[in-house]
Amino acid sequence: MKYGFFDDASCEYVITTPETPLPWINYLGCKDFFTLVSNTCGGYSFYKDAKLLRLTRYRYNNVPYDNNGQYFYIKDGADVWNPGWQPVKRTLDSYECRHGLGYSRFTGSLNQVSAQVLSFVPLNDSCEVSRLVLTNNGSAAKELSLFSYVEWCLWNADDDMKNFQRNLSIGEMEIEGSTIYHKTEYRERRNHYALYSVNCPVDGFDTSRDAFLGAYRSPSDPAVVMNGKASNSVAHGWSPIASHQINVTLAPGESRSFIFVLAYVENKEEEKWEAPGIINKTKAHELLSRYQSDDDVEKAYAQLKEYWQELLSGYQIQSGCEEVNRMVNIWNQYQCMVTFNMSRSASYYESGIGRGMGFRDSCQDLLGFVHLIPERARERILDIASAQFGDGSTYHQYQPLTKKGNADIGGGFNDDPLWLIAGTSAYIKETGDFSILDEVVTFDDGGEGTLFEHLTRSFRFTVTHKGPHGLPLIGRADWNDCLNLNCFSAQPGESFQTFGPSEGPVAESVFIGGMFVKYGEEYAAIAESLGKKEIAEDARREVAAMYDTLLQAGWDGDWFLRAYDAYGQKVGSSECEEGQIFIEPQGFCVLAGVGVKEGKAQQALDSVKERLDSKYGIMLLQPAYTRYHLELGEITSYPPGYKENAGIFCHNNPWVSIAETVIGRGGRAFEIYKKTCPAYLEGISEIHRTEPYCYSQMIAGRDAATFGEAKNSWLTGTAAWTFVNISQYILGIQPSLDGLCINPCVPADFGDFTITRRFRGAVYHIEVKNPGHLEKGVSSLIVDGETIEGNVVPFVEGKKEYHVTAVMG
Ligand code: BGC
Ligand code: NOJ
Repeated sequence: MKYGFFDDASCEYVITTPETPLPWINYLGCKDFFTLVSNTCGGYSFYKDAKLLRLTRYRYNNVPYDNNGQYFYIKDGADVWNPGWQPVKRTLDSYECRHGLGYSRFTGSLNQVSAQVLSFVPLNDSCEVSRLVLTNNGSAAKELSLFSYVEWCLWNADDDMKNFQRNLSIGEMEIEGSTIYHKTEYRERRNHYALYSVNCPVDGFDTSRDAFLGAYRSPSDPAVVMNGKASNSVAHGWSPIASHQINVTLAPGESRSFIFVLAYVENKEEEKWEAPGIINKTKAHELLSRYQSDDDVEKAYAQLKEYWQELLSGYQIQSGCEEVNRMVNIWNQYQCMVTFNMSRSASYYESGIGRGMGFRDSCQDLLGFVHLIPERARERILDIASAQFGDGSTYHQYQPLTKKGNADIGGGFNDDPLWLIAGTSAYIKETGDFSILDEVVTFDDGGEGTLFEHLTRSFRFTVTHKGPHGLPLIGRADWNDCLNLNCFSAQPGESFQTFGPSEGPVAESVFIGGMFVKYGEEYAAIAESLGKKEIAEDARREVAAMYDTLLQAGWDGDWFLRAYDAYGQKVGSSECEEGQIFIEPQGFCVLAGVGVKEGKAQQALDSVKERLDSKYGIMLLQPAYTRYHLELGEITSYPPGYKENAGIFCHNNPWVSIAETVIGRGGRAFEIYKKTCPAYLEGISEIHRTEPYCYSQMIAGRDAATFGEAKNSWLTGTAAWTFVNISQYILGIQPSLDGLCINPCVPADFGDFTITRRFRGAVYHIEVKNPGHLEKGVSSLIVDGETIEGNVVPFVEGKKEYHVTAVMG
């Protein structure tokens, strides 16, 4: 069942009923100011950091769900309604929500009145603009009242939910004409305030939530709106809000537009006050002056559209597959930008107050983002590197605003260091910019080194932290945060003890071994390009040794083992009662090339198909754990079929798909791609439930009662990895240190396709022809009329356009 449709020409998903299975959201904002907005106008805004600089309040874990947002109320006689349906939920004559690239548009109508709201964050201002157009489609004049509503968060979203003894007394507001200023804590610790304004005179306002809603009422029936009369309340403490009342008379056929601006403004200490208690509004006035007319809004909106068009033009495919075209050209790239911006901080499943930027997560997000804005990727890599310690290990998370490692969480996840190589290598392949390696970056615990030195320490960390079988020590966990093999409790019920990577019991990870082969080789290739021959040779020796170890101690017979626990017991082996086979090592070892020439790669992938595949994707492990195992940790705390305990983790499905391309099975690679690809799941939205235009982290596995149901949409490494999979491995346009490599691996019946790819300042027009209906192999490569040996398009400095024809054969 569908709840809308894709409008590819407009790059929009159009939702045609407000009652979607779950809130289906969009992200407004590209850089500093962000709003999460659902299909019923729920959501919240923040500046840079969802925890520390939250502008508006959201109610988590509440009923009905999706509670609070930027709401508009239209009062038409006794009828009160919202263009986005919530919170009044009056049945509308028509409803539509269009989620586009950085904007959302809501259209509702009732009793011959229509209201259209267009919301977006302009490219160069820290604000959200919402233009509301009211139209009278009837034949009689209409007397309407329009009310706006936002509820302020007292900045620190965490404290805002807890510290009532203080917070109920600190709210401060200022009103100037049609602009409502929220200046809580400005007198003391803050150099910023927020505002909510409209571009016309108002007939009233409210800034006290209690006055607006009335006691024991909610945004679904605010007293002020129901009575049709704002109370001009000024909040002192309690819960400040901002609401405008505008009375409108519309002649038949008449439309009127209203431009609302929700903004964040920062002042320097010396320019904070205009007079005692009165904030300096110069910057606010300047900002507001830029959004006064429809023309202003149109211009800013056109700039945003152009920006996205230009960004996405970096990778565009035309193929016979509508779903592939729409995911690759629009939605997958869009989600890569969102994950780059948010890491795992703010979504409808991540509260914005829990996690900051993940070290491993951000490194992987780069893989899908680097082609969009390489300069921002560069900056990010250097930020991430500064969360590394001198011994090569890293903090697991850092806070976006302070860029400091998160000491509460600490480090000890032994895969983290290698992801820094992955991100940096992707950046260099994309840009050819080796100069990033000379940037000097501090280590979190003192000292500094070039980025190359950071990579060296990442590499050496694995070399110097191996366990009894010669496999990498897992530490607290590897990619699978829930595989906690070094956790013990002396007595049931006693608190856990976690051993650091080099002390105590010595659990090992086959997965990190696969990573080491993949990224160790990339490290060696970088060193070689820098002329550091000895380092490269030494690294390759280490990689070769790990390769052998993986095929010995890391091999179970028909697939790769997952790990050895702290007692030296196998995890992910046919000898185990449950959890006999895991997805991660099969995907990663094979994509790293381990076992390909020995025939073990194919065997491992065949085992995946036989034991882990399901109609909704590949499950993380089988059989699911049915009881809790202290020696395995959190993974066994989940009910069977959910999350890491045999859920379909969308993130590592592409690893297996990539692995299939490595051994040349394009049909199977594509089959795996399709199973978790949201555009292919649109028709079963009542089962899948999350947005059909973005990936979710997890789909419930076969063991779950809700098999096929997705959760945790938007902020997942799935976005980057599926984009890498489809763009580089299936369609086969691979940035490499030497230039753009053309290496497709597709189903035999995929047909010919063309791709436009921006790469190192040039545009490549690539045609892939497959007259023999093969799955892999390029027999001829013609670049601007000339036949080239091999399948790498030679990079020519300064050349702006390339025309490439690759024939599979
Ligand atoms: C989840 C993991 C997640 C981790 C983050 C766990 O509860 O299952 O998916 O990575 O928390 O700390
Ligand atoms: C989600 C986390 O963000 C990611 O870092 C981790 O790899 C996966 N869960 C698997 O546990």
